[in-house]
Amino acid sequence: MNILRIAVQKSGRLSESSLSLIKECGIDFNNGTGKLKSEATNFPAELLFLRDDDIPGYVADGVADVGIVGENVVVEKEQNVELVEKLGFSKCRLSLAVPRGQEYNGLQDLQNKDIATSYPKILGKFLQENGISARIHEISGSVEIAPSIGLAEAICDIVSSGSTLMSNGLREVEVVFRSEAVMIASPQMSDEKRAILQKLLFRIHSVQNAQKNKYILLNTPKEALGKIIEILPGMKSPTVLPLAIDGWCSVHSVIHEDDFWEIIENLKNAGAEGILVVPIEKMIR
Ligand code: PRP
Ligand code: ZN
Repeated sequence: MNILRIAVQKSGRLSESSLSLIKECGIDFNNGTGKLKSEATNFPAELLFLRDDDIPGYVADGVADVGIVGENVVVEKEQNVELVEKLGFSKCRLSLAVPRGQEYNGLQDLQNKDIATSYPKILGKFLQENGISARIHEISGSVEIAPSIGLAEAICDIVSSGSTLMSNGLREVEVVFRSEAVMIASPQMSDEKRAILQKLLFRIHSVQNAQKNKYILLNTPKEALGKIIEILPGMKSPTVLPLAIDGWCSVHSVIHEDDFWEIIENLKNAGAEGILVVPIEKMIR
């Protein structure tokens, strides 16, 4: 059937952002709460709500065609999936942590220790690369309590805000891996499904570009126009419109969030007035 099955996390750190990305792509679902499957009303897609740890496996088997999941899970599961692209949200790190009071002067302190984690493969590789031999204890959840119950001297788990570590009396000491949400695809997908995925990616890129850019409008005396245009990068060249007052014009353009404040400052110094910056909803390149 030519419908793209998209696996998303059922509940957890990625759920909300995954769903809002899909919604911003203009894809609507009539999702009743608690449902594990939901078909789109205006796009050939279906959402499958799964445990994040299961997503790479389902995508590899072709049960789901694509999935939105943390790169950490993809790397750990070592399933045969294609990495389509990084999505830029739910950024986090996989880190080693020790009890707050415990002395720590470097990785050598973990030599021959017990470390609890849900990521035995990534951790094992990291320790090996650093010449540390430790006993890795794989546990699937609530890793943070392992030291306090005497199961391990250190843990290796996902840190985002750091509040879980904090409330369990732990201190982050080494970053093992940096991660964010990614889109993965099944190697078994048909050409028809790949075509739907391309449509979805086109929309995702438009949403992402829009989020990274702002629309800017300003007024400038005609003498300063040359200088102002030089400062503005824009998609092509800025739009220049005459104002009702003689000797003034209005300039419209698009600027990237990275150099936003610098550009605004330069524009002001060049003589721009009444600068307005507005969000862009979609941006098609
Ligand atoms: C991770 C980790 C912690 C939490 C850390 O779980 O296990 O519980 O996030 O976040 P914080 O630093 O903001 O407190 P994750 O959502 O990756 O997935 P899981 O529920 O599948 O373990
Ligand atoms: Zn999980």
